Amino acid sequence: MGFKHEPFILWKLPYYFFIRVCGLLAYLSILSYLTVWLHRLRGTKIGKGVFIGHYVGIDDVRPDLVELEDKVGITCGTLILTHRFDMTKYTPGMAAMDIPYEFAKVKIEEGAFIGHQCIILPGVTIGKGSIIGANSVVTSDIPPYSVAVGSPAKVKYRLFESPPKPNENVSLSEL
Ligand SMILES: CC(C)(COP(=O)(O)OP(=O)(O)OC[C@H]1O[C@@H](n2cnc3c(N)ncnc32)[C@H](O)[C@@H]1OP(=O)(O)O)[C@@H](O)C(=O)NCCC(=O)NCCS
Repeated sequence: MGFKHEPFILWKLPYYFFIRVCGLLAYLSILSYLTVWLHRLRGTKIGKGVFIGHYVGIDDVRPDLVELEDKVGITCGTLILTHRFDMTKYTPGMAAMDIPYEFAKVKIEEGAFIGHQCIILPGVTIGKGSIIGANSVVTSDIPPYSVAVGSPAKVKYRLFESPPKPNENVSLSEL
């Protein structure tokens, strides 16, 4: 997925404050229903039956660039980022924290599961029904129905010999 730039806009400050407060409440919430509701309020696109555990962080600058499809599970302590430094703008004498950001979408497809304490980096798509092992750092796309682990996360094995057809319903209990 491509990265885009966005200038800092002063009149957006109340919006940034709002998404941070909602993000903090969602981070501490132990009721998944409330957590999902707060993240939707921040602009994150969240499908039906999604589970989000406590201490899950969704980007504090552009949470609206995250899409979680139906029946996605995200367990405690995971962080999903949609912004990163644009390293082409780093010049000598500049403080690293002053490097401008670039943004990209994160999409977690239907029925995928993210284990404890993972970090999902900007621009990544995690395929339908895939499982990410605990403490993994996902830096690139993960194909559907794969088990991926480690930092950077690599596909350990595929769950099915041939991928299911588009309308074939595969329940999580089969994985
Ligand atoms: C990812 C997962 C599904 C893999 O299950 P599995 O296929 O039964 O895994 P195994 O234990 O057989 O391990 C397979 C390989 O992956 C490695 N592996 C498993 N999880 C790993 C992880 N989180 N990080 C790095 N490597 C991992 C194992 O060391 C093993 O490697 P090897 O083949 O070189 O020996 C499982 O580890 C899991 O459920 N993780 C999520 C844990 C979690 O977040 N639980 C909270 C749920 S609410």
